[in-house]
Amino acid sequence: MTWWCNFLHRAAKLWKNFLRRNPLMTQTEEKTQAPDTPMVPIEKIVSLCKRRGFVYPNSEIYGGVSGIYDFGPLGVELRNNIRRYWWWSMVQTNDNVVGIEGSIITHPRVWEASGHIENFVDRLVDCKNCKRRFRQDHLPEENLLKNKCPVCGGELTEPRTFNLMMETYIGVVEGERMKTYLRGEACQNIYLDYDNVLKSSRMQIPFGICQIGKAFRNEVTPGNFLFRQREFEQWDLQFFVHPSEMQKWFDYWKQFRFEWYKGIINHKDRLRFRAHGPDELAHYAKQAFDIEYQTVLGWQEWEGIHWRQDWDLSRHSQFSGQDLSYTDPETKERYIPWIVETSGGVDRTFLNLLLDAYEEEPDPTGKESRTVLRLHPWLAPVKVAVLPLQKNKEELVTTARDIHKKLRRLMVSQYDDIANIGRRYRRQDEIGTPFCVTVDFQTLDDKTVTVRERDHMTQVRLAIDELPMYLLEQVTWK
Ligand code: GAP
Repeated sequence: MTWWCNFLHRAAKLWKNFLRRNPLMTQTEEKTQAPDTPMVPIEKIVSLCKRRGFVYPNSEIYGGVSGIYDFGPLGVELRNNIRRYWWWSMVQTNDNVVGIEGSIITHPRVWEASGHIENFVDRLVDCKNCKRRFRQDHLPEENLLKNKCPVCGGELTEPRTFNLMMETYIGVVEGERMKTYLRGEACQNIYLDYDNVLKSSRMQIPFGICQIGKAFRNEVTPGNFLFRQREFEQWDLQFFVHPSEMQKWFDYWKQFRFEWYKGIINHKDRLRFRAHGPDELAHYAKQAFDIEYQTVLGWQEWEGIHWRQDWDLSRHSQFSGQDLSYTDPETKERYIPWIVETSGGVDRTFLNLLLDAYEEEPDPTGKESRTVLRLHPWLAPVKVAVLPLQKNKEELVTTARDIHKKLRRLMVSQYDDIANIGRRYRRQDEIGTPFCVTVDFQTLDDKTVTVRERDHMTQVRLAIDELPMYLLEQVTWK
């Protein structure tokens, strides 16, 4: 019993010390970066992503496909962490929310009911002089009025309309194949499965259904790296309510999602709401907000909070002939539930987090500058690097490998013995690894190691036995 009390006491002490040193973990408004840190050019992030294995252009050896990307070894870890954290905070920790995973391909009638076949269009203009292409709704007002290219001032063509849905075919026999679409927004599966979820789980209104999944759009002007792609991933909550409670739940989820984003970024002052103007609102929407983040691209949408009313379930009832109304088990009132939607992007989160975290700063030792990714420890792709001080000392190497083997069962750990210790720290800083454990000669005497923290480069000396608990406390979300 005494050893257990000692263990708890030491763990609590370590945790308190850590909170004192690491402002991110206190969940306060403090920033790890100065508010005036310059915004990072996208090119720096593109270059880092390729160099260190976060993101690669898709089919690069064939010249690539515009607006489609692959994720490398570090990218997939970061992406998984982002997705898992969202799922944990939206589904696992809310008793009134459940999750589904729907298919990319659905019955084509779905897209008629949703309005995508008719309305999911972009209007495009081309410059007759420089041949550049623009979305009409992205043109600055002055260029729109004067019909002038924003780049060279040349005359613009008349707008042409393009549907963004990606077509595909089900079946192999020519003439019998059914034309359908890769889903243009992931949320449609939630409306399609709503009735099944209701009948197969013990959910009652108000309740929500979440999903993370791929969506496809024939974006006419894909660009800005992951910001506007043709294949991307969305996360949605569709929260079903009684009409009289719509405003309450809309306000609740709007604030919840804002705080969620605020909790994982350093530059809290670069996050804001933007209310949709009357000309942007769907006819059924009383209000809508974008959660926006400011980067070199300006203020841009990160997630949308939408008032969908009874539009989706009514349309699917009408087009499918299935009654999707809900009967209140107590009052027996029958109605089509109204929906609050929160819809964001995994890829945009990925990009914004890198833009938020990237910093180049002078080395305090004055030798060289360092690039550091100040990613939240919960989300960082590699949690810890284990480094023997020298690679030609067998005992150091064996001890370090042994520590790495134990840690990798609990979290993503990297073993690295190539180059001097300073360069190895820099390598880890650049990919956002929050902790480096160094095995040195003192380790061989007293079984302690140094733990270096990424943001402040402070070091503490810890017993090897204490490492798992110390690290887990800091890299596990709570
Ligand atoms: N169901 C509502 C819906 O799809 P949206 O505003 O079109 O709404 C929601 O998309 C989110 O999906 C956006 O806030 C953005 O994060 C992400 N997103 C949309 N189009 C994207 C694209 N072409 N590339 C990357 N992410 C995109």
